[in-house]
Amino acid sequence: MSFYRDFNDKIAIEGWNTAERAPYETIRVERLSPAAGAEIHGVDLRALTDRQFEEIGRAIDENLAVLIRDQTLTREDQKAFARRFGGTLHRHELGASRAWDPKAYDPEILGWRTGRDSRFTAGDGWHPDVSCDPSPIAWSALHVTKLPPFGGDTAFANTYLAYESLSDPIKRALEGLTAIHDGSQAWTAGYGSRPDPGRTYPQSEHPVVATHPRTGRKHLYVNAAFTTHIVQLTREESDALLGLLFRHIERNLAFQTRIRWHPNSLLVWDNWASQHHAIWDYYPFERWGERVSVVTGARPAA
Ligand code: SIN
Repeated sequence: MSFYRDFNDKIAIEGWNTAERAPYETIRVERLSPAAGAEIHGVDLRALTDRQFEEIGRAIDENLAVLIRDQTLTREDQKAFARRFGGTLHRHELGASRAWDPKAYDPEILGWRTGRDSRFTAGDGWHPDVSCDPSPIAWSALHVTKLPPFGGDTAFANTYLAYESLSDPIKRALEGLTAIHDGSQAWTAGYGSRPDPGRTYPQSEHPVVATHPRTGRKHLYVNAAFTTHIVQLTREESDALLGLLFRHIERNLAFQTRIRWHPNSLLVWDNWASQHHAIWDYYPFERWGERVSVVTGARPAA
């Protein structure tokens, strides 16, 4: 892959767009932007063949976030689909405290309802899900069960492209560095949540640049929500370098896409090689979501 920089340091990506992609045989995949995002048509997730599941997996690896259209899914259907990825279903630290109906609470589903009285909405900032876990979520599958009349898109950034487009001296400086990802930065500082008495939120150390377990490609693995500091640097150096990397992801629209929601869709993303941002532009309208996530047990490795 190579990159062209203009005088304002805007980056044009070469290679990603021209890479050969094999045609799909059992699903229809419509790309939404060069960097990330696709819509999948022509499948029923409740009656999926192994070949269709395999091709959906490839579409996620190639596009990072896929909106699977025209589904009628119960919560059990959503969980059954997620289980096909293997591993276990994630239980979110904040799941119980977010549940609006404790009787219907299911620890394998992270649900939220954003509306007129909300003080924040889940994921309103660039992040991957729960990178503070030792084995962070590999895939997330989000069903938005109530959409606002307009807005409420989910933006995605491709962190392979974010890594690849760094200059060689910066890439060399990142080699061997690790960073701390802390749940309390995202959830206590971000949302005002506190762990149950006697417990702390997870905290983990991950490489700043990780190699993706399926594609073998390097991607940036630091984010503004969870990453507090780079272990090997002074606080001042760490703040400066993380600030540069966060801005690099946030400001380069060429790495990004916006997924526009349609009713009856399931959005599935690769949670390691992407970051996402739930855009809260629909206040005071309501948006409700239910997310099921998959953990494989793998840890990010350099
Ligand atoms: C999230 O999982 O971070 C929320 C995404 C969304 O609501 O679009």
